[in-house]
Amino acid sequence: MALTLWLLLALIGACGARGRPSMPLKVPNANTEKRRELLGAVHRRHKRWRKWERHHSHSAAGCTAEDGRGDVILRWNNQTLDTVRSKELGAAEASRTYAMVNLAMFDAVNGIDLSSSSSKTCPRYPALVGAVGAPKCADREAAAAAAAHAVLAGLYPDMADTYNAQLAEDLESRSGDNFDRGVQWGAMVGRQVVTARKDDGSSPSETLAKSDQVGEFRQDWTSAQYRNMDPFGIKDKAPYRSPGPPALDSPEYARDHSEARLEGDASDFNQTKEEIFRFWKGGSGSARPPGEWIKIGQVVAEQQGTTKSLSGTARLFALLSAALADSTIVAWDSKFTYRHWRPQTAIREANTDGNSETVQVDGWTPRNGSPGSSPEHTSGQSTFAGAGSTVLAAFYCTDQITFTFEGDDAIAGERTYTSFSEAAAEAGQARIFAGIHFRFSDQAGQAAGRALANEILGSFLRCRHCSHCA
Ligand SMILES: *[C@@H]1O[C@H](CO)[C@@H](O)[C@H](O)[C@H]1NC(C)=O
Ligand SMILES: *[C@@H]1O[C@H](CO)[C@@H](O)[C@H](O)[C@H]1NC(C)=O
Repeated sequence: MALTLWLLLALIGACGARGRPSMPLKVPNANTEKRRELLGAVHRRHKRWRKWERHHSHSAAGCTAEDGRGDVILRWNNQTLDTVRSKELGAAEASRTYAMVNLAMFDAVNGIDLSSSSSKTCPRYPALVGAVGAPKCADREAAAAAAAHAVLAGLYPDMADTYNAQLAEDLESRSGDNFDRGVQWGAMVGRQVVTARKDDGSSPSETLAKSDQVGEFRQDWTSAQYRNMDPFGIKDKAPYRSPGPPALDSPEYARDHSEARLEGDASDFNQTKEEIFRFWKGGSGSARPPGEWIKIGQVVAEQQGTTKSLSGTARLFALLSAALADSTIVAWDSKFTYRHWRPQTAIREANTDGNSETVQVDGWTPRNGSPGSSPEHTSGQSTFAGAGSTVLAAFYCTDQITFTFEGDDAIAGERTYTSFSEAAAEAGQARIFAGIHFRFSDQAGQAAGRALANEILGSFLRCRHCSHCA
């Protein structure tokens, strides 16, 4: 009985110190056929795990790899945030770079775990680069640093001096055989990530031409190719395409048109709206909206003690950054498909929309100052927010974590949130205060972000060989 209970707990994987997402599998209490079936699955998994352990405990003899600390992951995310800022990358390229750096660090650390089978860690399926050639018991922190360095230096060779300096600092006072092998392995993983993503569809640049049709976006849009980028964590973007904005002559459209006109009007100065819109602005030279979720991850990882574990920290940022990069693909796909007009055009030309409930205002200007540089539906900001908040809440097994941070473009310092979903909702609201999005596009973006994050949480970086870590 005690054994059964233990097995059940192991299978259900109640959220624990590792902060893993709970498993969708539930064993019913009643003595049904379903219960017997699931218990059978528990026993089979347990047997496989024991067999694997017996096999590997011999081959890993003498390996005492400790888990190590996750600060190295945070440091290289800082390097990446700074790269996005100083190179003034757009949100799409930024999200891809965050994912490449973090997947490389994850695969470098996890590859060593897979080959070493230390009982202190929980090896998982690789994110992008398999564990073939991973050195047993090598220095995992050195491998993570070398992997991130190789990705950034591969993508932005003109910034190599900065990356070399950070690597030298990270590797200072570490030496020995395990260290050398860790650095070599990490660098190889980083180079492989760059190669694997070379032709991932993120280039060459593709432009969706401006349109003068009613309901359509008025400017050229120059990063349209990201809708076709290879996903990092999801299988396919297709299920996440928005069903589309409401028809121009619908009451839903009129309702959100009115909200955008009243809440996002530049001529109606309001300190609160100004502060919130700027806090989440993510303009050129900032870490961009996906970077704000990386920053939230950093703050919470330190606050919750996640950084005590290198493998846990690596996994958190791999999940988070993969979900953020896939949010780009999904949002860009809807933008390209619907090429919906921004509130500025929709309000100035409301007399053409065939809806008697919308109010036309000549010269209406959004608080943002400019109308937004991509088609309106859906909101990329909201997609990043839905995805980022969902990954963080699942990793920590609760949405209710209080945290404080400062958006890159903030004009009034830090803000505090009592949950991830509260921050996500405000990020979406900020675009309405900015006057550049409608509520329906915020909602569609948030829903798509949450949904794609849930696919990633359920299928990406799952535990390999063992059931004790879910
Ligand atoms: C990353 O940068 C932030 C902001 O500058 C800083 O507060 C934090 O300490 C840095 N983290 C690490 C691990 O260097
Ligand atoms: C400013 O906007 C906030 C947020 O919508 C609102 O609660 C507040 O009443 C507004 N202040 C004024 C003076 O209109």
